[in-house]
Amino acid sequence: MKDKYGRTIEYLRVSVTDRCDLRCRHCMPPEGVPLMAHEDILSYEEIAAVVTEAAKLGVRKIRLTGGEPLVRPQLAVLVKMLKSIPGIEQVVLTTNGVRLAQQLPDLLTAGLSGVNFSLNAMDREAYEAFAGRDRFEAAMAGLHAALDAPGLSVKINCVPTKGREEQVLKIASLARDTRASVRFIELMPIGMGAVLKGIPKIELIDLLQKKYGPFSHDEAGPEGVAPGEYRRPERQRGDAGGCPGDRTPKGPAEYYRFPGFASDIGFISAVSHRFCGDCNRIRLTADGMLKSCLAFPAGEDVKAILRGGAGEEALRESIVRCVQNKPKQHAFGFQKTEEQRSMSQIGG
Ligand code: 5AD
Ligand code: SF4
Repeated sequence: MKDKYGRTIEYLRVSVTDRCDLRCRHCMPPEGVPLMAHEDILSYEEIAAVVTEAAKLGVRKIRLTGGEPLVRPQLAVLVKMLKSIPGIEQVVLTTNGVRLAQQLPDLLTAGLSGVNFSLNAMDREAYEAFAGRDRFEAAMAGLHAALDAPGLSVKINCVPTKGREEQVLKIASLARDTRASVRFIELMPIGMGAVLKGIPKIELIDLLQKKYGPFSHDEAGPEGVAPGEYRRPERQRGDAGGCPGDRTPKGPAEYYRFPGFASDIGFISAVSHRFCGDCNRIRLTADGMLKSCLAFPAGEDVKAILRGGAGEEALRESIVRCVQNKPKQHAFGFQKTEEQRSMSQIGG
């Protein structure tokens, strides 16, 4: 399915809940945010109905997000339902990992292909201070369970914020010590992100080089491309990772390799390096709005279609309309967009 700017849309992010078991400071205020009513949240059958029509239109990859998707009971049941829809090649998950160790066996049996792990601290106290809950050990157990699962793609997403440099550098060391690549996602002016300060990429690279030595492209980058400015080859195809503004096949992320590191470190700078021209995704919110862009509130009310009994064709038309109305680019910093809502409400 192509939009009116010629972008191929093959990736649907599905938020399964707005609930979360953490209160990360860049996302939510400590008291949380107003929650959707349970009856407004799509059932697994309703989600599968939307995905079935989206797959007929060319969607190939589904990412489950939240809130925290694993707080929704029996997520593996949904994974299995989606995986069996003709055309759906990959179902992946973005999670804080706190409940992952326990649920991973079922998720793997259901056919989960990858996990993007959101992590912003590497010490117990710092984790609790940032995430508002003492769940560091549970998160680490989830991460290690994922790393131990053969064939499961694992990436770590961190949103670096000022004052937390030490933790951010420790998270980078996971790319040295494990098979997971670590991606630093630029803070977006969404939810509490609007009141925190991100660490600029150039500053972070400087800190990384001071601690881990000069980066290079020797181990992974193609010949003749400026260090740090290459885009990783084939591996990226259809592998449009996890977080907001994730790399697409052409890839908005820039990857760096530090000496002796097992995996690479990526930077995804959705706000300052607007890569909307390569955007391949649409999103479904937990309460059944189909949205063409993270940054705009407009969307198609597919829940009304599903519950009004209008049928598959109406659903398909709604998906096509959504894609046709996909904006050319986000307008963070230029116009009032989604800034007031948190990522958990929009559907990260
Ligand atoms: N800017 C960037 N990323 C954010 N996330 C939540 N709020 C923001 C923000 N303001 C991230 C979470 C998680 C993902 C779903 O979205 O850290 O990794
Ligand atoms: Fe795509 Fe919107 Fe994100 Fe830009 S801001 S990359 S258009 S989802």
